[in-house]
Amino acid sequence: MSRQYSYPASFEESLTQALASFQLTLKDSKALAKCVLALSDYFIQKPEAPTPWNETWAQVAYLCYYLPLNASRLRGIVAEAEKRNFFQGLERVIDFGAGLATASLVLSEKQAFRFQLIERAAEPQKLIETFFPQFTAEEWQRTFSAPKLKDPQKTLAVFSYSLTELSDIPDWAYECEALMLVEPSTQQDGRKLLQLRQKLLDKGYHVWAPCTHEGPCPLLTQSKTDWCHDRVHFAAPEWFLKMEEQLPMKNRTLTMSYLLMRKTPAEKIPAARVVGDRLQEKGKDRQMICRGPEREFLAWMHKTKIEQEIPRGVLVQIPENDVQKVSNELRVQKEIQRL
Ligand SMILES: C[S@@+](CC[C@H](N)C(=O)[O-])C[C@H]1O[C@@H](n2cnc3c(N)ncnc32)[C@H](O)[C@@H]1O
Repeated sequence: MSRQYSYPASFEESLTQALASFQLTLKDSKALAKCVLALSDYFIQKPEAPTPWNETWAQVAYLCYYLPLNASRLRGIVAEAEKRNFFQGLERVIDFGAGLATASLVLSEKQAFRFQLIERAAEPQKLIETFFPQFTAEEWQRTFSAPKLKDPQKTLAVFSYSLTELSDIPDWAYECEALMLVEPSTQQDGRKLLQLRQKLLDKGYHVWAPCTHEGPCPLLTQSKTDWCHDRVHFAAPEWFLKMEEQLPMKNRTLTMSYLLMRKTPAEKIPAARVVGDRLQEKGKDRQMICRGPEREFLAWMHKTKIEQEIPRGVLVQIPENDVQKVSNELRVQKEIQRL
């Protein structure tokens, strides 16, 4: 069974109202796609440049493309976090580089947090306050520093696509109990996140997801090219599909790299995370899993007639008595169970 996500249902009305303020509707596929292409070209030409929020086309593109896509990715991550009880005891969220409050909007669906949003541009705050009445922030700030931290022991610091411009999290974030870091699943950003994971472990944080262990990351230490990333299926509405017809990029599945860490240790679970897609090889199928510092694969030998494809990113139980370890392969002798 695949993991399918879309953006929160309440966005539809908000997007309709917000686009109306630009004399647009969700059905203006060509005009919306033109804005998306303009912002995408801008980022291709200037990958390090800040989001040009002062431009109308950038606001439209964020509303109808990046917000729905990032919110769907974040819903997948929040679902994993909830499975592990990651939010227990947390009361505040600092959403750094909040943009259109993407992460806060998703977190506020089920969790009663108090939200501080840090966003250097003024336009996103105006759009959210005008068109997203379902969400209330405690405050929006243009900059942030340690003296503004209210209750770090109960605070989750969120960096959703806002670390790309930074080489490390800011000093104040190291005082927060919990961290949610989400990055584009590119090789460069993904591997940078794995290096940051090691630094955070060294500083006393514990990893809650996606890792099920706190050893060195095998994707970082055993390979020069791998990076850890998750994938969800995007349940795109009709208007999005129509807009996408005008675009060179398609989004049937969405990938993302993420880390959930806390100062409190996570409950140990005897599980592995599936970190690869199924690879079809001669005589067997393999999928990479992660449960320790070793780079390991589940292997289904064709002769056993056990056929399984496990979605990337889910947790599975490894029955020690029903797998045969051969080099870096765990040969499956009985169907693997998802957690
Ligand atoms: C790529 S957007 C991500 C927006 C949103 N978090 C999301 O997940 O869709 C990065 C945002 O971070 C903001 N930003 C970058 N550096 C910042 C800083 N030092 N202080 C406050 N905001 C910052 C930018 O203005 C931009 O809106």
